[in-house]
Amino acid sequence: METLEGMKRTHHCGELRKSDVGTEAVVCGWVSKRRDHGGLIFVDLRDRSGIVQTVYDEAAMSEGTFHKAESLRSEFVIAVRGKVRSRTEDTINPKIETGEIEIVCEELRILNKAKTPPFYIQDGIDVDEMLRLKYRFLDLRRPEMQKNIMLRHRVAKLMRDYFDRHGFLEIETPMLCKSTPEGARDFLVPSRLNPGEFYALPQSPQIYKQLLMVSGFEKYFQIVRCFRDEDLRADRQPEFTQLDIEMSFVDQEDILVLMENMVSEIFDKAINEKIKTPFLRMTWDDAMDRFGSDKPDMRFGMELMDISEYVKGSTFKVFNSVLESGGQVKCIKVDGYADIPRRELDGLVEYVQGYGAKGMAWVQYTEDGIKSPFKKFYSDETFDKIKEATGAKTGDLLLVVADKRLVVAQALGALRLEMGRRRGLIDPNKLCFLWVVDFPMFEYSEEEKRWKAMHHPFTSPRHEDIPYLKSDPGRVKSIAYDMVLNGVEIGGGSLRIYNSDLQEKVFEAVGLSPEVARERFGFMMNAFQYGTPPHGGIAFGLDRLIMLMAKRASIRDVIAFPKTQSASDVMAQAPSTVDEKQLRELYVRVALPKKKEKNKEE
Ligand code: AMO
Ligand code: AMP
Repeated sequence: METLEGMKRTHHCGELRKSDVGTEAVVCGWVSKRRDHGGLIFVDLRDRSGIVQTVYDEAAMSEGTFHKAESLRSEFVIAVRGKVRSRTEDTINPKIETGEIEIVCEELRILNKAKTPPFYIQDGIDVDEMLRLKYRFLDLRRPEMQKNIMLRHRVAKLMRDYFDRHGFLEIETPMLCKSTPEGARDFLVPSRLNPGEFYALPQSPQIYKQLLMVSGFEKYFQIVRCFRDEDLRADRQPEFTQLDIEMSFVDQEDILVLMENMVSEIFDKAINEKIKTPFLRMTWDDAMDRFGSDKPDMRFGMELMDISEYVKGSTFKVFNSVLESGGQVKCIKVDGYADIPRRELDGLVEYVQGYGAKGMAWVQYTEDGIKSPFKKFYSDETFDKIKEATGAKTGDLLLVVADKRLVVAQALGALRLEMGRRRGLIDPNKLCFLWVVDFPMFEYSEEEKRWKAMHHPFTSPRHEDIPYLKSDPGRVKSIAYDMVLNGVEIGGGSLRIYNSDLQEKVFEAVGLSPEVARERFGFMMNAFQYGTPPHGGIAFGLDRLIMLMAKRASIRDVIAFPKTQSASDVMAQAPSTVDEKQLRELYVRVALPKKKEKNKEE
């Protein structure tokens, strides 16, 4: 193998242009492609800046150098010295930025050989993601992946610049924390020095950033790793990165404005997208009732419509019993799809059942009249009224779900997205931002038979709702807000409780007795007695934001070394078992469930 000694790189591959013709260049990189035309060899050389064509002419170079060029294979690491020259008219490649020039090799050094990679190092490959993750170091060598990682760097840099300019301090908070209830499941770390005791990895720096407000730092931010042991999806990872923010002496509007300006600045500077501010603000109630989601995708319409008043008081038992028990009958309108095949309708019934609905009905306004499973229970007049109220035209389809309010929302909200996709209504180039505000303070957990904080228990209830904390928790709204982009929650935050009495009341409302609350959060409640300023904040999911900026479908594509759906790193093979000795030192014993080797509960 040769070295770089005496040969210094002068240019990156992707930066050479027509104006460089005539200069001598030294470039280094990986062999992307080699084409052998007998006495003439072309090698595309790649580094992180792009690709340049190098040329090896048997007639114009030493025999040894030409032989070396013949021995080149994909992904060999080489250095090339040569003259930049124009390509002839007919050989110009407009697809690459260096397509007008090439380098005529005078000296070639093979710095390293490479085994044949398990997949092509190029964009748009059709390869199982597991293989890509196993060879992530090669996957990351592909130009599109390099672009994602570079975008991520650029965005993080712009965020730091923005917050620095606005007087924020980046302050680090611990990774080994106290395990606290609420939220997702904690990742635990045994403490060797404190046998039988555990740290938790932070689900977010929530408590610490609030304590920094007590300390008087006023404006804090941090780009920080968070850990949550929850079930994974395309936009969830067990460790992910937040842009975390907290501020003192501000109201909700101050925070929303600062954040939408930040987002608009990074979209402009990083990907040249101009975003209009202020963003739309929508209450949680409106989002649920109109879009069936607390993170509505506003790139298309198809809003949920209530037809309860037209169908009530009939002999149709399904609608009647729902309405009598305080539920709703709502629908979405799918334009021009009255001729939907029956088989697809049956599939949609199953689809909504997967989202908790008991069933689904429909109305097809066809040229030959109305088709509907509830036709025989209603007069033509009723169907005309529904037609008018929903703005349906002949040729349109209504999909109808009857149930309790939140079940209708969940089922029709999911159905709306699915029909939007199937009917091609979602423009992938649109960017639709909004704030969802006025979240409920609590949601009832049927599973645990208790009220839980919808955001977290440090979120401030609206002042006027405080009297109902105990008597009617369901009606209490909080001063919490989420930023939503194209149907993805990219950030969420709230104004906080800064009074320990109120904090105690909220803990009580979520079923934490004063004793338990003190045991878990005592240090925080104690700190709050020493002069706590009014404060609030927000955290953004950096991975999700970059995913949307890079127009990718999975956050795994914008994380250098992500975990799989089952939370493992298939390249390094983590998690893994450890030595008995390591466990002994930690005073930890493993008790596996009987059958399975690995505990994969849920
Ligand atoms: P929250 O729990 O809403 O708020 O998280 C903030 C944002 O983080 C992102 N996010 C995730 N991204 C990838 N994988 C995950 N598993 C994951 N979980 C959350 C989302 C979300 O909007 N401490 C509060 C913030 C505050 O009140 O200031 C918090 O963590 O984009
Ligand atoms: P069933 O009495 O369950 O056979 O339902 C009769 C018809 O009512 C079905 O074919 C559906 O079209 C409709 N239906 C049933 N449940 C619901 C529901 N929750 N929402 C809307 N329509 C429903």
